[in-house]
Amino acid sequence: EKGGYDHFMLKEIHEQPRAIRDTLTGRVKGGQADLSREIALSPEEIREIERIHFVACGTAYHAGLVGKYVIEELVRIPVEVDVASEYRYRNPILTPRTLVVVVSQSGETADTLAALREAKKAGSRVLAITNVVGSTVAREADDVFITQAGPEIAVASTKAYTSQLIAIYLLGLYLARIRRTRSEAELAEVVKHLEELPELAERTLEMEDTIRRLAAEIAKKEDLFYIGRGLDYAVSLEGSLKLKEITYIHSEAYTAGELKHGTLALIEEGVPVIALATQTSLYDKMVSNIEEVKARGAQVLGLALEGDAELHKLADEVLTIPRTLSFLTPVLTVIPLQLLAYHACVARGYDVDKPRNLAKSVTVE
Ligand code: M6R
Repeated sequence: EKGGYDHFMLKEIHEQPRAIRDTLTGRVKGGQADLSREIALSPEEIREIERIHFVACGTAYHAGLVGKYVIEELVRIPVEVDVASEYRYRNPILTPRTLVVVVSQSGETADTLAALREAKKAGSRVLAITNVVGSTVAREADDVFITQAGPEIAVASTKAYTSQLIAIYLLGLYLARIRRTRSEAELAEVVKHLEELPELAERTLEMEDTIRRLAAEIAKKEDLFYIGRGLDYAVSLEGSLKLKEITYIHSEAYTAGELKHGTLALIEEGVPVIALATQTSLYDKMVSNIEEVKARGAQVLGLALEGDAELHKLADEVLTIPRTLSFLTPVLTVIPLQLLAYHACVARGYDVDKPRNLAKSVTVE
């Protein structure tokens, strides 16, 4: 049942190229994203959307954070992202022109479901991105995008996250096409890169041996930091959650620009810092932040793009991921972070697929 892998989590990490491919299948036509089967809104209704809210929990919330960057960039509609347990109690501003996108692997998370019901009651349109056909969220939403990750068994979510990202890119591309915020040629260029992701994910998985070695070191630590800017920050949060939930190592993710506003005080000799620097437009800023932590003795593991020049001179270790469009990199950047958490967990001897205190599906508040 684990397909020759020691754990479901590892199997699911390795299934990502396939999950990405399957989630794209049937949703690209003539080189353009086409969600007309998933989203019943008319072009007129799509043009009337004034704001978008992503609402989700845990890893699915982290996918929503990527969604904010992607949708605002492509479609120029203001996007808010909320944790469902906050959203449902904070009286959000919902109108019939608000599109609420709930993201849930299981489609059964209690808080996400409650948020969906709040949004519907207020007359907003709800789109669900879920991995489970027939789940409560899928049944109650107005529109449904089913990710094709296949059953996810490990408590730590991996392939569901990357599939949710693909759903979000397709949503952004589809909305941009109908609202004409980008030219057909520009959109076709993004689609072309999207279709290359399965192969690039495959290549990213090849660094597993190096990661196993690095994970053995991480497994000995009790505290570490993830830093990044822009989309790298969103992925840092996900990397940090993955590590916490299965290795029980304390970690925090920070936007690199916030270090000086407090966190830098925690950086001293030997403190491990995982620094993500895959966003081209923010690269120089990240290099300065890495210099700051290095100067205080941090032990830096850098994550950069293939062919990177600067990080190799600065960081103690560097992992590189294949180049793609900056806003598609989260799909690849998260893979080494998933593998790092996995191998650190194995090195510590904990139960990978069933971490303490956690359930796969949180159906109670
Ligand atoms: O099924 P859902 O996507 O609604 O689940 C949301 C979270 O409970 C889930 O992503 C959780 O954070 C994972 N254990 C993270 O790996």
